[in-house]
Amino acid sequence: MSRKILVTSALPYANGAIHLGHLVEYIQTDIWVRFQKMSGNECWYVCADDTHGTPIMLRAEKEGITPEQLIGRVHGEHSRDFAGFHVGFDNFYSTHSPETRECANDIYGKLKAAGLIEVRTIEQYYDPVKQMFLPDRFIKGECPKCHAKDQYGDNCEVCGAAYAPTDLIEPFSAVSGAKPELRNSDHYFFKLSDPRCESFLRQYTSSGVLQNEAANKMQEWLGAPGENKLTDWDISRDAPYFGFEIPDAPGKYFYVWLDAPIGYMGSFKNLCAQKGLDFDEYFRKDSTTELYHFIGKDILYFHALFWPAELQHAGFRTPTKIFAHGFLTVDGAKMSKSRGTFITAESFLATGLNPEWLRYYFAAKLSNTMEDIDLSFDDFVARVNSDLVGKYVNIASRSAGFISKRFTGQLAPADASLPAIKAIQEAAPRIAEHYEAREFGKAVREIMALTDLANQYVDSVKPWELAKQEGKEVELHAACSNALNLFRLLTVLLKPVLPVVAQQVEGFLNSAPLTWADAQNLLAAGHAINAYSHLMTRVDPKLIEKLIEANKASLAPAAEVAAVDAKKTAKTEKPAEKKEAAPAGDGLCSIDDFMKIDLRIARIANAEHVESADKLVRLTLDIGEEKPRNVFAGIKAAYDPAQLIGRLTVMVANLAPRKMKFGLSEGMVMAASDPDGKTPGIYLLSPDSGAQPGMRVK
Ligand code: MSP
Ligand code: ZN
Repeated sequence: MSRKILVTSALPYANGAIHLGHLVEYIQTDIWVRFQKMSGNECWYVCADDTHGTPIMLRAEKEGITPEQLIGRVHGEHSRDFAGFHVGFDNFYSTHSPETRECANDIYGKLKAAGLIEVRTIEQYYDPVKQMFLPDRFIKGECPKCHAKDQYGDNCEVCGAAYAPTDLIEPFSAVSGAKPELRNSDHYFFKLSDPRCESFLRQYTSSGVLQNEAANKMQEWLGAPGENKLTDWDISRDAPYFGFEIPDAPGKYFYVWLDAPIGYMGSFKNLCAQKGLDFDEYFRKDSTTELYHFIGKDILYFHALFWPAELQHAGFRTPTKIFAHGFLTVDGAKMSKSRGTFITAESFLATGLNPEWLRYYFAAKLSNTMEDIDLSFDDFVARVNSDLVGKYVNIASRSAGFISKRFTGQLAPADASLPAIKAIQEAAPRIAEHYEAREFGKAVREIMALTDLANQYVDSVKPWELAKQEGKEVELHAACSNALNLFRLLTVLLKPVLPVVAQQVEGFLNSAPLTWADAQNLLAAGHAINAYSHLMTRVDPKLIEKLIEANKASLAPAAEVAAVDAKKTAKTEKPAEKKEAAPAGDGLCSIDDFMKIDLRIARIANAEHVESADKLVRLTLDIGEEKPRNVFAGIKAAYDPAQLIGRLTVMVANLAPRKMKFGLSEGMVMAASDPDGKTPGIYLLSPDSGAQPGMRVK
């Protein structure tokens, strides 16, 4: 009987680009969904942008646009990136939608009616300059434990201590730099500590909906029986806030994390209207449909505690399972902007890398645990080239041509008793179980072992030799037909991972879209195939270098002239209960941050072309130090070196030196350019007259 399944991936924040870390999740979910669809289940995959909250509001303000304009633009970018990696959402919507608002109001109203909403006055930091209450992540100051300066209001990145913003020493607003004041305000709380929530969550989180590791974590968060550790959850924020105003509380808004998971419902409701589906069938309390949330381990608290408790007490069904995955590391380390391993989805595609290489690589590394997964580029190149191109594609490329050229494209009957064919057909149900259990690595390993068997068959019959021998037509025809049938069966098994290759294979095999059941049948004798064209190229390791360079470039390395990037490094894993869209990605920078950058007036003592570098000029800069600095600047397109000699400009003097092919670059000169590229050109900064080399710029 066909199952009815609703699947979600976490909603990406609408203020940052999709990167390879995100893609672990969306590719994992997409593979699972494609497997379900191929298996004949009715499966819907929905997602949306997570659009609300302070960081998005401030980011829009900084860009001089409305939040609606910002989230509209980002929605386009995210949609493009997901499509680029063949993430096949049935609906990619937005939390800033009438459906999500309606569902949020409904859930809030029902929780309130159940007596689970409470208003309390709390004291909170307020920015008197910006005239707004400050989320913890927008308050900075000295860590009360280790006294590191410039730490966020929720936890210290140096010693790891967690604390309240009021514990910070000399706090300041990360928005305006002002000293925050404590002010009172009414906040709305969801009473998670209520005994009804506690008993429900104890039962729910130990009922098998979570992975063991996650269930254990929940026991920690819940506390031992009798020791209720749950605390009420603050679900309101004061204006100004970009979000949904609470229906009976003017000037109060739902906290972004209240409406974010409700965005799953909103997106599905919108899909229901498009497809004529019955929303209630999927969300009513006694629903027999299945609901799965794929998430990262950092947002477990929200999905395993808040969200099910909300659904339960608002009279809806709860998730069937919550699937948490680990974090992506690149070459064994956290993704890093300065190392160029904070890789955006867009740059991956723009560099010319094939998205299905990454899908295959992630599949090969994924399991159903919460362990982190590592993208090792050497391993990536080796696996794609040896498995996908060397083993899998090779089967088709060694047999298809002969069928077209020698047998007018028609197949001979396949030998159903061929050991390799039988092995694949026997393995298919086992591989299906691996997909179902999200053990994609196991599935891929089995499929590759079967691919080896198929290649052993081709090697044993040697079509390329048969083709040269007189009177071996029948053998050649049989060998190539068997090989293509093997190839087709393997394609069935790989289709959830490689949807585009599978589609091309369906094209050249002249076949209807392959389903999982097709692993049990063979192409009929006489079936006519179309011309084969090559399915996949090998990874050129040079592309990887290019990719890393491209992601470094966006960080304004010494070799490039660029605006100072004061962004904090990538958002890291925060304690789940604290997590909110961090200001990290929005480029806010405190005065202390800014003062770390040592800007100096520099005299260009010499400037010359760099041989074989098409963008760079070598500058010798005098900043009043004993020895002049050597800096490579990417300004060749805009300036003739000769015209630069003698003029003054501004340089970043304390940028970490960077070793380049042409020598060491010891800083960066500053220049203006249009970020949108509408007005071309690069414009080097100059000080007013009177400035001297070595003067500090601030
Ligand atoms: N907006 C929230 C989710 C709301 S869901 C109702 C959020 N957004 S996010 O953009 O920060 O992350 C989206 C998803 O990507 C999360 O599940 C997160 O765990 C995952 N990942 C983000 N960075 C990741 C890695 N480096 N590695 C693996 N997954 C990562 O959280
Ligand atoms: Zn500290």
